[in-house]
Amino acid sequence: MSRKLFIAGNWKMNTTRSGAIELARAVAVEVGSQDQVDVAVCPPLVYLADVGAAIAGSRVALGAQNAYFENEGAFTGEVSIRMLQDVGCRYVILGHSERRHLLGESDEIVNRKVLKALSDGIDVILCVGELLEQREAGQTMDVVQRQVRIGLEGVSQTVMAKVTIAYEPVWAIGTGRVATPAQAQEVHAAIRELVGKLYGAQTAAATRIQYGGSVKASNAAELLAQEDIDGALVGGASLKATEFAGIVRAGM
Ligand code: 13P
Repeated sequence: MSRKLFIAGNWKMNTTRSGAIELARAVAVEVGSQDQVDVAVCPPLVYLADVGAAIAGSRVALGAQNAYFENEGAFTGEVSIRMLQDVGCRYVILGHSERRHLLGESDEIVNRKVLKALSDGIDVILCVGELLEQREAGQTMDVVQRQVRIGLEGVSQTVMAKVTIAYEPVWAIGTGRVATPAQAQEVHAAIRELVGKLYGAQTAAATRIQYGGSVKASNAAELLAQEDIDGALVGGASLKATEFAGIVRAGM
């Protein structure tokens, strides 16, 4: 089964309001009319509506970097899935390693968010990935498979079409130290095998698995050429429209 590549820009806690609008417009101009590759941008929460307006009418979709698993109420500082949908989000990134490791999100919390997001009908990018010491201790597959297994607990096969998994080895994030295509492919294949065990071969073949960690225009083609790499979740390089567009073009 051929999977359409999916390139998403995770802007993290970067840009200003005017900078975000400018970047979004530039991305829309660079890649907003092609439909060979699915493209999304995930700005900081406070700029979602502005960025949504800037990409309106293009094929660039809007995504958020996080959400909470309740609809409303006394959850100071949190934002619900419905609020994200209300401002035009099609995607939400959940379980990013920075949220897991800097902000203390457990697999169980990530799972509650995944379940809530899918029941509210937004598409999920579920991030998984091992720390350097876990890789060095030979625990990569165990860690990643546990994160996938718990992250997807209770998710039915029928909604798996709304799930993208992003493999982001933590040691490759923001470090310039990209996983080799072979290292990434090995983990992607293992993730797909696990999805097959959980949901069957057809779902495994249809599920998109992005790679994330120091992806740039110059290394994207060889990563995207791997059999089980179906796109990229891009941090730093998504903050420059031409660089990000170069990654999208590498997938065309
Ligand atoms: P970098 O591309 O900056 O390494 O970040 C990757 C990432 O964390 C995307 O979510």
